[in-house]
Amino acid sequence: MLPMSSTFTIDTATSRATPTPAPMKRVTVPSILARKVKEGGGEPLVMLTAYTVRTAQLLDPHCDMLLVGDSLGQVIYGLPSTVPVTLELMAAHGAAVVRGSYHALVIIDMPFGSYEESPEQAFRSAARLLKETGAAAVKMEGGAAMAATVRFLVERGIPVMGHVGLTPQAVNTLGGYGARGRNQAEAAKIVGDAMRIAEAGAFAIVIEGVVEPIAIEITRAVPCPTIGIGASAQCDGQVLVAEDMLGLFERTPRFVRKFDDLAARISAAAAGYAAEVKARSFPGADQVYAPKA
Ligand code: KIV
Repeated sequence: MLPMSSTFTIDTATSRATPTPAPMKRVTVPSILARKVKEGGGEPLVMLTAYTVRTAQLLDPHCDMLLVGDSLGQVIYGLPSTVPVTLELMAAHGAAVVRGSYHALVIIDMPFGSYEESPEQAFRSAARLLKETGAAAVKMEGGAAMAATVRFLVERGIPVMGHVGLTPQAVNTLGGYGARGRNQAEAAKIVGDAMRIAEAGAFAIVIEGVVEPIAIEITRAVPCPTIGIGASAQCDGQVLVAEDMLGLFERTPRFVRKFDDLAARISAAAAGYAAEVKARSFPGADQVYAPKA
C-alpha cells in the first residue's frame, strides 16, 4: 500500500507515474477469493470505482479492488444510462486506471452488447479488454442466463466478477433503478442467479440494490466473496461509485454515504478563481502592444 506522502515521477515514454517509495505488490484474483469472510470475521473487501489515472492514483492505496465501471457513461460522459457505453470507452479508461494504480486489482466492466450474444463474443471482448489495458479481470452483469459464458471465460483464463440483483444494463426491461427482490419469486430468482454464477467460477459477485435478506442469504450460500452496493453491510465487501462517495453530485442513491462534499468545494474554488481573475487590474492596451520606438 502507498503511504499518504507518496510522490510520482512521470515516465514520459509510457505516461506511467512511478510512485516513490515503491508500493506493495498488486492484489491478485486468488487473494481476493481467499478473503471470503467466514462466519465470525475477516477484514471486509474495499472496492471503489475509478475511471481516470489521477483518481486511480489517489484511491489505489486504500482499495483492494478498483472497478472501471460502465457507470462512467453517466458519471463522466453525461449519458442517460450505461446502455450506450462502448468497448472502446472501457478500454481507454481501463488502461488509464491500470497506469495509475499499483496495488489494487483492476476489474473492467463489460459494456452492454459486448458479451450477451455468445460465450465466444464475450471471450473476444474480454480478451481485448485485458490485452489493451493490463487489467486482470472483467465484470459481467446477469444471472443464470450468463452462467455458461462465465464458465467459458474462466476456463480460458479470464477471471470474472459477477453482478446480480439490480443490473443497470437491463434498465429497459427492469423499468428503472428501484431495489430488486421485493417479492418472493424475484428474491428466489436473484439468489439462484448468484449461485449459478458462483458455480460457474466467478471469483466474486457484486450484489446491487436488493432487499437486505437476499444479500445475506447469497453471502452465506456462495463460496466466493460478495461485494454489496445498496445491499447489506453483511456482504464480504463494499463498493461505491467514487464520485457519489466524494459528494460530487447533489443527488445520489439513498444508500450512498457521502464522505466529502466535493461539489460544494469545487464550486467555491471556481468562484474564488473567477473573482480573482475579474479583480485583476490590466495595464492599458497601448502599454502592452505599442511597438518599441
Ligand atoms: O458500473 C459500476 O459502477 C458498477 C458498480 C455500481 C458496481 O457496476
